[in-house]
Amino acid sequence: MTLAQRRILLGVSGGIAAYKSCELVRRLRELGAEVRVVMTESATRFVGAATFQALSGQPVRVSLWDASAEAAMGHIELARWAERILVAPASADLLARLAHGHADDLLSTLCLASAAPLQVAPAMNRQMWAHPAVQANIQTLQRRGVQVLGPASGEQACGDVGSGRMLEPQALRDAMVASFGDGMLAGLRVLVSAGPTYEDIDPVRFIGNRSSGRMGFALAEAAALAGASVTLIAGPVSLPTPTGVLARVDVRSAAQMHAAVLAAAAEADIYIGTAAVGDYRPAEVATRKLKKKAGADLFLQLAENPDILASLSAQAGHPFLVGFAAETHDVLPYAHEKLQRKGLDMIAANQVGEGIGFEASDNALSVVWNGGSIDLARASKSVLARQLVAILAERYRAARA
Ligand code: CTP
Repeated sequence: MTLAQRRILLGVSGGIAAYKSCELVRRLRELGAEVRVVMTESATRFVGAATFQALSGQPVRVSLWDASAEAAMGHIELARWAERILVAPASADLLARLAHGHADDLLSTLCLASAAPLQVAPAMNRQMWAHPAVQANIQTLQRRGVQVLGPASGEQACGDVGSGRMLEPQALRDAMVASFGDGMLAGLRVLVSAGPTYEDIDPVRFIGNRSSGRMGFALAEAAALAGASVTLIAGPVSLPTPTGVLARVDVRSAAQMHAAVLAAAAEADIYIGTAAVGDYRPAEVATRKLKKKAGADLFLQLAENPDILASLSAQAGHPFLVGFAAETHDVLPYAHEKLQRKGLDMIAANQVGEGIGFEASDNALSVVWNGGSIDLARASKSVLARQLVAILAERYRAARA
């Protein structure tokens, strides 16, 4: 991992997480990056400019109207100098100003004046983060190609627990490295489906399954960290979009997931189908809530859903296909059989049961392809995801060589 001679402009806005950005400067410089820090006026109330100056080894700028700083390196020059702009922490106010194209201080002006890719690491109270105004600004920025890194969830400075914490410096540094495309999947477009599907019976009931979506979300994150442009198609889960994922489409049913995956697959080099797609759906969805008829059994007729992986593998020029299989027994024989039957390039199979698989935070996988297999020992889903991405990168290259 290196950032040798990379020119990074770090924007620091006003928030308690600004103290973590001191550590971030060190982490970036450790990998050889040149870092220049620009602070907003309110950021200086949390951390002194002298701290960033000492850590970056460069003068820190705050104001657009600092004549001597402008003489040394004008703001337009600084905007051109930057290869990346990372705003960490990005406060709710700064995100709003970026979304609306304000240029009323040095940092917002630089973001407008620079052609460098912009990354923001939001940090705020969970209630603020969840506010529709903030979410709308985030969506505006994402549509413009701004990379939103985090936030993470956990305990907050204000004592609340929830989503809104700034990502840790290490994660921000990794995302920065990946953004320069030095990763194993650099330049590749990866499409990931994750989570369960819900097949509606009537307006209040559905048939679902116990997939948590965590394995797919971990894979999406690992692929993004490896330099891929990642699109995530998510079934009904309550998980935040992982770091570095460029686009997320939320769906509910297998039919919606099928349509969303097929629409995005034309633009993908690799499709990873981690979603636990319902194989069947109620043949008819009642428009009104079904009423209990005491004393009588209820029969539900189910219609078969299309198989997403099989639909893709039937298309000419389809992406490299990675399937998942959850089995309660005979994991390997079923994995081999599914690899052939669905026309896959690779399949990751796992055993589900008590304490492992679906709702657990860790997992163990057997990865199988034509001519080989590897067993990945039980580990957290994020560790497994990174291992799987490494195998995937190798298999993809071997297949396309
Ligand atoms: N899958 C899919 N479309 C479906 C069903 C499954 O793309 N309609 C994908 C899943 O995303 C996953 C793999 O197929 O990658 C899982 O296969 P699974 O459902 O376990 O296999 P089935 O063919 O349904 O076999 P079985 O139910 O016998 O286990």
